[in-house]
Amino acid sequence: MLKRAALVIVAALVVGQAIRPNRTNPPVDPTQTLAATLHPPATIMANLDRGCRDCHSSDTAWPWYTSVSPLSWWIVHHVDEGRREVSFSEWGTLDVRRQFKKLGDICEQVEKGDMPIESYLLIHREARLDDEERRQICDWTKSEQTKLGPLPPPSPEELSRRGRQGRPD
Ligand code: HEC
Repeated sequence: MLKRAALVIVAALVVGQAIRPNRTNPPVDPTQTLAATLHPPATIMANLDRGCRDCHSSDTAWPWYTSVSPLSWWIVHHVDEGRREVSFSEWGTLDVRRQFKKLGDICEQVEKGDMPIESYLLIHREARLDDEERRQICDWTKSEQTKLGPLPPPSPEELSRRGRQGRPD
């Protein structure tokens, strides 16, 4: 009985390998990246790269285990979702209001310790950020917010989007 259960599991794992989610790295317009548009200090950029790039850019490293099902399904989902939230590769395509909002979100996530995601840190010990590095990221996001200056009023599209979603920004 146990042997049979083991066989079923092995068979499921083998068959599962055929289901390959798309591990994409979409093309990057080098003029639109966060690095090219905000020119963050080198240490900030290095820490964002180290802690966030795999999920928040089109420049994801895909080591061998990211192609092993079912782990791959879960990892690809994280990357897709992460990119949707904010992509450092497409920063310049965000309007000023979105940039302002995302800078605040980055600080908040880092300050709360919600990002980088805990499961990612299990494998990527080097991605861990210490208190000082978190503080530096927040100081930087705040200074970038100040640089963006007074925000333009929300566009009609923005207002209708908010109305639909029933939440600000
Ligand atoms: C392993 C993948 C992964 C890593 C690494 C990662 N993120 Fe995320 N991030 C996600 C996913 C998935 C979401 C969407 C779901 C969620 O909010 O938990 C997200 C959401 C976010 C959001 C939007 C959340 C909100 O509700 O405002 C921000 C901002 C963010 N991440 C910033 C960062 C920063 C900054 C780093 C690096 C210090 C980082 N993330 C590292 C996967 C990741």
